[in-house]
Amino acid sequence: MKNILVIGATGQIGSELTMELRKHYGNSNVVAGYIQSAEPTGELKESGPCEVVDVMDADRLAELVRMYNIDTIYNLAALLSVVAESKPQLAWKIGIDGLWNVLEVARENNCAVFTPSSIGSFGPNTPKVKTPQDTIQRPKTIYGISKVTTELLSDYYHLKYGVDTRSVRFPGIISNITLPGGGTTDYAVDIYYAAVKGETFVCPIDQGTRMDMMYMPDALRASIMLMEADPAKLIHRNAFNIASMSFDPEIIYHAILRRKPDFKIIYDLNPLKQAIAESWPDSLDDSCARAEWGWYPEYDLERMTDDMLEKLSIRLNK
Ligand code: SER
Repeated sequence: MKNILVIGATGQIGSELTMELRKHYGNSNVVAGYIQSAEPTGELKESGPCEVVDVMDADRLAELVRMYNIDTIYNLAALLSVVAESKPQLAWKIGIDGLWNVLEVARENNCAVFTPSSIGSFGPNTPKVKTPQDTIQRPKTIYGISKVTTELLSDYYHLKYGVDTRSVRFPGIISNITLPGGGTTDYAVDIYYAAVKGETFVCPIDQGTRMDMMYMPDALRASIMLMEADPAKLIHRNAFNIASMSFDPEIIYHAILRRKPDFKIIYDLNPLKQAIAESWPDSLDDSCARAEWGWYPEYDLERMTDDMLEKLSIRLNK
């Protein structure tokens, strides 16, 4: 990877991945691609090139790839699961019409492509515990349907045209910097904000509903490690299960309670989020990622909770 374009560089993952890539590959070699309505600010804006690009605009994409001699594209444009349910056609247009544009420009310009998949690519008849790498994927959400299509189309471009496509199935991502927007796993970020602000947390997901989660530094490491991996060792490509922790609201609540003894949680379920969460796995088996490119997580729930509370207290001045 020498010249990198991040599409969706101001989003939940993009805003931090762009900065991490700039650290690794040099500020001027990582272009932050953003849509007009989500302009970069602060360090992201100041530290390197920023360009307007909508994944649905194939001409602009091709122009940028040529202008910056791009060899790797991180395509992070997507709507998260809950918001996608209210705009299914737009979710498909961004996720799949956009992906065609990315894959075509990659084929023409010999770029590697990373387009994340998700735990949302699984469905209610997927084995729930230690979900295998290769298993039934019959998601019931438009988010999941577009992620399964992303996996298949990315593999197709690799097989048919030799495009170097690689990807992971992200769990819910937890970060103390950029907030997620409209996802099913957002509660696991919101609960830390409530704890640090001294508020009672109103949880939209029920006790006992487990989902896989990951701390942002591990998600960033995985995204870079996979794109750097020796292609000869990759049996799979789109997309690898990766895992670091699995919990339900009570488990994360108690992890926080041990550090903030006055913290309170009440439950007020969001039926859409709850139904989506119940259709997703409890935990993923990530042994293929470990074997094929050496994946391992650095954060478990305890280490993440220490770090989240410390960083958020500083940032929120609490
Ligand atoms: N975090 C995503 C969501 O909740 C899942 O990949 O929609």
